[in-house]
Amino acid sequence: MMKNIGNVRWLIAISTLLMSITMVAAYADDDEDEGGNRSMGYERHSSRSGAGEDEGNGGKGRSSMVSNAKWKEECGSCHLAYPPRYLSADSWRAVMSGLDKHFGSNATLDPEVATEIGNFLEQNASKKQQRSTNGIEPPLRISDTKWFKSEHREVSSSIWKNPKVKSPSNCGACHTKADSGSFSEHDVRMPR
Ligand code: HEC
Ligand code: HEC
Repeated sequence: MMKNIGNVRWLIAISTLLMSITMVAAYADDDEDEGGNRSMGYERHSSRSGAGEDEGNGGKGRSSMVSNAKWKEECGSCHLAYPPRYLSADSWRAVMSGLDKHFGSNATLDPEVATEIGNFLEQNASKKQQRSTNGIEPPLRISDTKWFKSEHREVSSSIWKNPKVKSPSNCGACHTKADSGSFSEHDVRMPR
């Protein structure tokens, strides 16, 4: 009898210990993600503003590299293939259903290709509902989302007008590794 109670205590002690180890490990994991992908300041900043970066993929920077061959080819021919995580699924649906009148261009695709790309975009979309700053809901532009405006609030209007930038849609003008899917602040170089 006494021996059994002893066993139970022993079990409780072991499981408590295991639980704390797991918690410490999980915490360390978090740290690593932040340190590996962006500065601590950014992580905090991003969660406050509800960044698309975090929402679409559980905050793991590595999925910034999600890719699809047709998406890269078709949606990267006129401009950067904009990463799916910066718009929510309803936005991507709206973009994909209006490709014949795509920001003044005709970007129509074969239906099968359009379906494949649409699925890829929606599956990797921001899980956070992205809101627009101009009353067009869902926003069709990343650069029209509240999230985008908030991330870029320190970019002065003169820089947006710089001829090397031309348009906020021109992510690569400042994000030197945008083509490979990295928008880390460490790779931002402002054009002069
Ligand atoms: C024929 C050329 C062309 C193709 C192909 C094309 N686009 Fe575009 N896209 C444009 C133009 C032009 C703009 C407006 C750019 C600007 O305002 O500077 C644009 C803008 C965008 C924007 C808004 C960018 C912002 O400001 O946040 C999104 C999102 C977008 N395209 C998604 C796509 C997707 C998804 C595909 C593939 C299915 C695609 N585009 C294929 C020409 C194209
Ligand atoms: C005129 C230059 C410029 C353009 C164009 C631009 N950005 Fe940025 N972006 C910045 C700057 C500056 C920051 C803030 C960096 C800092 O605070 O250190 C930033 C921050 C960001 C961040 C947050 C980075 C992080 O580490 O958390 C993301 C994501 C981002 N931009 C995406 C985009 C996307 C997508 C586009 C195109 C649709 C775009 N940017 C266009 C200059 C630009």
